[in-house]
Amino acid sequence: MTPIDQIMQQDHERLDQLLEQSAQAVGKDAWQEAAQFLEAFRHGIVDGHMVVEESTLFPAFELQEGGEDHPLTALLRKGHQDLRVFFEEMAEAIADQDAETFDDLLSTVQTILKQHDAKEETELYPYLAAALADQGEAAGKRILDFEAEATS
Ligand SMILES: [Fe+2]
Ligand SMILES: [Fe+2]
Repeated sequence: MTPIDQIMQQDHERLDQLLEQSAQAVGKDAWQEAAQFLEAFRHGIVDGHMVVEESTLFPAFELQEGGEDHPLTALLRKGHQDLRVFFEEMAEAIADQDAETFDDLLSTVQTILKQHDAKEETELYPYLAAALADQGEAAGKRILDFEAEATS
C-alpha cells in the first residue's frame, strides 16, 4: 500500500490538473467542457479529499498533538471553507460564460491552494502515518476509491 502522505500529495496533483483542464476549456470558450472539469474537480476535492482530511486526518493529527484547537488544522479548516465558496463562484462564472470573472477567481484559488497544499505536505502529511492507528491505510483507500470512481 502506498503511504498516506504520498497518496494525499498525488491527489493534490490530480486535482490541480482537473482545475487546469477546466481553465483551458474556459480559454477555448468550451463552456460545457469547462463545467464538467470544474465539477470533477469540485467533487474530488470537496466530497473526497476535504472530507477525508476533516473527518479523519486532521482529528488524528490534533489528537496526537494533544488538543482540538491546533493552530495548523484550524488554519487548514478555514482554508477549506474559503475555497468552497470560491468553487461555487467559479461554477457561477462558467454558467454565466464570464471568462474574466473566472480567471480572477482562478488565480485567487490557485494561490490559496498552492500555499494550503504546501503547508499540508510539509507540516501535516509527514506525521499522519504515525498519528493514525492503521498508518492511514483506510483513509488512503478512501482517496484511491474516489480516484478510481472519477476515472471509471
Ligand atoms: Fe486541505
Ligand atoms: Fe490536501
